Amino acid sequence: MRRSGGDLWLKIVVMAAMLTFAVCRDPVRHLVGGNDRWKPNVNYTDWSLQQVFYVGDWLYFVYDRNLFNVLEVNETSYGNCSDQGFIFNITRGAGRDVFELTQPKQYYFLSSGGYCYNGMKVSVNVVEFVPAPVPSPPQSGSYMIKGINPLVLLIVIVVWAV
Ligand SMILES: *[C@@H]1O[C@H](CO)[C@@H](O)[C@H](O)[C@H]1NC(C)=O
Ligand SMILES: *[C@@H]1O[C@H](CO)[C@@H](O)[C@H](O)[C@H]1NC(C)=O
Ligand SMILES: *[C@@H]1O[C@H](CO)[C@@H](O)[C@H](O)[C@H]1NC(C)=O
Ligand SMILES: *[C@@H]1O[C@H](CO)[C@@H](O)[C@H](O)[C@H]1NC(C)=O
Repeated sequence: MRRSGGDLWLKIVVMAAMLTFAVCRDPVRHLVGGNDRWKPNVNYTDWSLQQVFYVGDWLYFVYDRNLFNVLEVNETSYGNCSDQGFIFNITRGAGRDVFELTQPKQYYFLSSGGYCYNGMKVSVNVVEFVPAPVPSPPQSGSYMIKGINPLVLLIVIVVWAV
């Protein structure tokens, strides 16, 4: 059987359209505090409420490395501005630190050295990203592999093979 050129182009267009639907959102790097960066006397609650944080996104802390740092703490320590027994030290020394938000949960960060009392604390609520609907929705319990929905990949392969 001979394959006409028109068929081939149609298949490519269909594939491209499906992949566009299926590909996950790119991770976003959130500059903590926006233009204010990471420093005292900024309301980081205000800042974090204006953002949506998805699993896989990053926080980017930019600050004066001679004064401040970034520690991940739990809710209690965040409330008390306590750096004792912190969860994770994000500080790397350059005053430019990144942190990947890997789980759908509430995260808490602060700067030690007493600056937390001056507002250098931030809490972010991380949620799972719900991908855009595909033409035939997959059953529950399907997974995204490397950003591409396997069901859509299968459809693409079938369309290509027909
Ligand atoms: C920061 O902003 C939040 C939300 O707008 C507000 O509820 C809170 O009172 C503010 N905190 C301070 C210390 O101003
Ligand atoms: C920390 O905060 C909790 C409640 O938020 C309080 O019960 C506890 O006494 C505080 N601990 C310190 C060391 O301030
Ligand atoms: C938070 O961390 C502090 C310091 O490690 C610890 O004493 C406290 O029990 C923790 N609180 C919770 C709710 O895990
Ligand atoms: C965090 O790590 C940095 C770089 O390794 C280090 O200089 C700093 O002392 C650490 N901070 C704390 C509170 O452990």
